[in-house]
Amino acid sequence: MDSLGLCILLMVLCFQWTTAPAAEEITWTYTGLVGQTEWSEYFPDCAGNAQSPVEVVTTQTKYDPSLLPLTPLGYSQHGNKPFAMYNNGHTAVIELPEWMGLGGLPWLYTAVQMHLHWGSGGPSHGGGEHTVNEMSADAELHVVHYNSELYPNMSKAMTQSDGLAVLGILIVTGEETNLAFNNILNYLGRIRHADQKVFIPAFDVQTLLPEDLGRYFRYNGSLTTPPCHQSVTWTLFNERIQISPAQLLKLETILYSSKAEDPDRMLLQDNYRTTQPLNHRVVFASFSAESGRELTSGEVTAIVIGVMCGCVGLAVIIRFIVKTIRSTSSWDVLHSSRPAPMSRMKEPEEEKKQDMALNSTCEAGKKEEPSPSPQRDP
Ligand SMILES: *[C@@H]1O[C@H](CO)[C@@H](O)[C@H](O)[C@H]1NC(C)=O
Ligand SMILES: *[C@@H]1O[C@H](CO)[C@@H](O)[C@H](O)[C@H]1NC(C)=O
Repeated sequence: MDSLGLCILLMVLCFQWTTAPAAEEITWTYTGLVGQTEWSEYFPDCAGNAQSPVEVVTTQTKYDPSLLPLTPLGYSQHGNKPFAMYNNGHTAVIELPEWMGLGGLPWLYTAVQMHLHWGSGGPSHGGGEHTVNEMSADAELHVVHYNSELYPNMSKAMTQSDGLAVLGILIVTGEETNLAFNNILNYLGRIRHADQKVFIPAFDVQTLLPEDLGRYFRYNGSLTTPPCHQSVTWTLFNERIQISPAQLLKLETILYSSKAEDPDRMLLQDNYRTTQPLNHRVVFASFSAESGRELTSGEVTAIVIGVMCGCVGLAVIIRFIVKTIRSTSSWDVLHSSRPAPMSRMKEPEEEKKQDMALNSTCEAGKKEEPSPSPQRDP
């Protein structure tokens, strides 16, 4: 009996051992044989009902005033130890030091890595994963953290519902070169092929983030790549960061998904997943969708009040100066017994009366002149 039980246990263990790595060895891609639509055949979580990325419809987000600004911890204290960066055939991954973390969530989350998603068609042709009001970004940066208060490491945390926290940063193209972004871009040429790895100088990761860390969208979702575990507390920043068209072009064309020894080179492009159904999930916003309008109207009120106060102040000052000049001038001293404005007002009235009298006499004269009209003598 005991040996039979042991045998069954061994068989089960053996079965698990042989099947488990099989899924991990599956070479998934974004299009093709094991493309996005087939992921769930090999990775069941990819068919879950709380998948990422999602389309954020801002008018359908729920304002949650308890969502405070996120605080990156130690992002700027990068130290002297270089960061490891590698091409995993799906993206470029930059490993982050364990002292980097995230505050402002119910648990303390420790940074693990960051990576990018991009397209192939240049500016305005997609590449970002999350969309906002049906607008897609040109690329997207993900900074991945695991819940280090509850779990010992990333691999344990990634299967737990409260295991991971990912920052999503939408990237669009603009005029200027993003110098912080060059800390990554400058070294992609060293990891053109899958499985290649390079050490890059450590840099201030916070310079990659948008300035406004207070406005973001929050929802419960998943990893956007297999095994698609639904373990991610997502933070999608409202502010987008900008890179130049040349930087985007470099990102889109420099890496291969194929290995160095592969005879057929495959460009690593369009490594973004399409948006997944929300399925009754709520996307929360740390800011009110109407706060933009309220702020402007508030600003307008402030400006109006400011201008009014300024005008009143100026009027008071001018009045004071005029009063001071008048009280010290000899003219006012001489005519102090009689109010000056009264005399001024009388003068034009008298002139007017004289004018009117003059006009009436003129008119009378005019009327008299044409009295012998030419109609009388035909
Ligand atoms: C992660 O932690 C689990 C649970 O303690 C452990 O079994 C596993 O070996 C660890 N994995 C790594 C990669 O350290
Ligand atoms: C995420 O799920 C947890 C557990 O169900 C829940 O307590 C939390 O409010 C959810 N957060 C969001 C942003 O929906």
